[in-house]
Amino acid sequence: MSGLRVLVTGAAGLVGAEVVARLAGEGHTVLALVHKRPAIVRNDGEVVRTVPAGQSGPGLVSCVAGDVTKPMLGLTAERYEELAAGVDRIVHSAATTDFGRRWETYESLNVDGTRNVVRLASERAVPLVHVSTAYVCGERTGRVLEDDLDVGQRFGTGYERSKFLAEQEVRAAATPVAVVRPSMVVGTQESGVIRDFKNMYVVLKLFTQGRVRSVPGFYDALLDLVPVDYVAALICQVVNRFDEARGLTFHAVGAAPHTLLDVSNALAEYPMFEVPHYVSPSAFDVDALPPDERVYYRRIIAMYESFFRRRARFDDTNAARLAPWRPEATGVDYLRTLLDHCVRVGYLGRAEAGIGDVLRLTGGPR
Ligand SMILES: NC(=O)c1ccc[n+]([C@@H]2O[C@H](COP(=O)([O-])OP(=O)(O)OC[C@H]3O[C@@H](n4cnc5c(N)ncnc54)[C@H](OP(=O)(O)O)[C@@H]3O)[C@@H](O)[C@H]2O)c1
Repeated sequence: MSGLRVLVTGAAGLVGAEVVARLAGEGHTVLALVHKRPAIVRNDGEVVRTVPAGQSGPGLVSCVAGDVTKPMLGLTAERYEELAAGVDRIVHSAATTDFGRRWETYESLNVDGTRNVVRLASERAVPLVHVSTAYVCGERTGRVLEDDLDVGQRFGTGYERSKFLAEQEVRAAATPVAVVRPSMVVGTQESGVIRDFKNMYVVLKLFTQGRVRSVPGFYDALLDLVPVDYVAALICQVVNRFDEARGLTFHAVGAAPHTLLDVSNALAEYPMFEVPHYVSPSAFDVDALPPDERVYYRRIIAMYESFFRRRARFDDTNAARLAPWRPEATGVDYLRTLLDHCVRVGYLGRAEAGIGDVLRLTGGPR
């Protein structure tokens, strides 16, 4: 289907930028809600060309600056009404994905921000595609279904709790909705290219540089890594085939999760990398770590710690039915693709980054 008018929030983000570019490439008219960063840069670094709002049309992208945390997204009443009346779909991708933020930040951006976007969509019953996270499942173990939401799970991070509350807002919306839940978004399927080295990439840097040598966790814990191009393709497909997607949730996940042993084995193939070892959480003693490592642990690793003991497997039956293509089950090959890209662009393999550099990558000390 072509010729829709689609509003995308979080349009300059890692996922949002790819969605914007692809929707425009398919002939849709895209209204990109930007916040602090005005430029929309694709995952491969290409800057998306934009036109002034008055010149928008099929295949073109125009930007509107707004803030989802504010009533009416911080827009004038006139502009807000124009948006409500003038779009056929909304993709809500704006959020903070940082770990370790204060709860107020998650609540204001991820929960209240979603409520504000739901309100906009509900004004004129505009179909809403909400970008959530597979980790709304919290620390659940075993098979997680796309229909599952509140099963009394415990949350490992404030981020996932906020996304869980946001999904509840979306499910209660007075407008048709579909939810796409990516797991951990990483480099493209073919080349491993990734625009932003955040979250698990930061952890990987600490591991491979030998700054963190022991971590509480289990070698059979599961990490689900999903290529960014697949996530964007699935979101666009949900936009295009909304009649089939309506009311459904889609796990945008990798072909199969990787165990931490898979990750360790892949890291061990690179002679310049240090490889951390996992210590049973009950035996791990943070006070016994060397002083430097203790700092890294407390400031960074502790935020991700629950991922080193999780064993969730995400069922993706709905996504398999709708997705235009599927991530390949390439196992350790895909890890090599991701690592090779990190080495190629110099993100991994150099040891000169100090703790200040690592803190900067994670958004500074908190
Ligand atoms: N990346 C992942 O691994 C991952 C995994 C699972 C789910 N997800 C979900 O996927 C979605 C997109 O994530 P992403 O990786 O693309 O995140 P991202 O790169 O951090 O992008 C988030 C976007 O939200 C915008 N934003 C922040 N505050 C805003 C505000 N107050 N008003 C309007 N826009 C605001 C940001 O704009 P500024 O930078 O200009 O402030 C940015 O463009 C999120 O909903 C996230 O929860 C991501």
